[in-house]
Amino acid sequence: MIEQLKTKLNEIENNYTTKLQNCASLKELQDLQVEALGRKGALTELLKSLKDLSLEEKKAFGPLSNEAKNKLTALFEEKAATLEIEEINKTLNETDIDLTLPSYPFEKGKRHPLEIAKKRMTDILKGLGFVWAQGPLVEDEYHNFDALNIPPHHPARDMQDTFFIKNTQKKDFVLRTHTSGVQIRTMQKQKPPIRIIAPGRVFRKDALDATHSPVFNQIEGLYIDKNVSLADLKRDLTLFMQGLFGPKAQVRFRSSFFPFTEPSVEVDVKCVFCEGKDQNCPVCKGSGWKEMLGAGIVHPNVLRNCGIDPEIYSGYAFGMGVERLAMFSLNIKDIRNFYDNDVRILEQF
Ligand code: DAH
Repeated sequence: MIEQLKTKLNEIENNYTTKLQNCASLKELQDLQVEALGRKGALTELLKSLKDLSLEEKKAFGPLSNEAKNKLTALFEEKAATLEIEEINKTLNETDIDLTLPSYPFEKGKRHPLEIAKKRMTDILKGLGFVWAQGPLVEDEYHNFDALNIPPHHPARDMQDTFFIKNTQKKDFVLRTHTSGVQIRTMQKQKPPIRIIAPGRVFRKDALDATHSPVFNQIEGLYIDKNVSLADLKRDLTLFMQGLFGPKAQVRFRSSFFPFTEPSVEVDVKCVFCEGKDQNCPVCKGSGWKEMLGAGIVHPNVLRNCGIDPEIYSGYAFGMGVERLAMFSLNIKDIRNFYDNDVRILEQF
């Protein structure tokens, strides 16, 4: 009896080992596995006859049938893995699926925080009646320095600060160190009244650190008309800061120096984080104020250089750093956050 069963077991094992190797699809393999090892499968049927064996015989045959079952199960699994890979490859070859494409959900792009900040600033200025003007990034020394009343010995013209491009078209060029040259280009083209802003990139030989970058953005402003005074400057810049930081924003004007304005001022805003109440405020360092931009009444020499009579016209100018204002309003401590383009950081703003 037991010999018969052993032969039967061998037959089942050999039969299904051959058959499973010949399966061409996963479906076929699964059906075959049910047929061999399922609840009503060949092996289960065979084990039913175990009840007719003696205890001794059962003890001898039990392990043999387990061994056959485990062997077959392992072979089925192995074959299933092979077939699965084959089927995936086949689908991929037939359907042109690109597995390197990003998967759902797709991230939606949005404006860079610097662009958002710049747009907010220019929108407010447009609301104050300024129109957009532009100038070249590679500027000649005349527009970047001389016409702005910056003499050859001025430290801003030092090799340390400026990227020089020498001897091109017999003129000396620089990467513009500020947007102020657009003042000159506009006044050369246009008679007053003039009311322009010039946003754009500027370049300085600074090493990149938490607060400096060799490339950054400025917005220049220029207003020329009859009887323009410091009062107009104070009104417009106060309105601008209140537009940016809210109607309660407080603005302070300190006297300063720029070659192209006289008098010159530095414009501070009351710290929006501690409102001047925290001696240990990390943003304003306890001073209560944050320096925001430079401005002043356009120097008569600058007007004259552009063919505008300072006896008839006067005007104000200002220049501000977009990064500086954006860092203050968004409380960003490191300017490199803007340029590293780490999406995890940028998406917070
Ligand atoms: N050009 C100056 C700078 O880059 C900023 C500036 C100061 C611009 C005063 C102005 C001004 O128009 O009136 O630091």
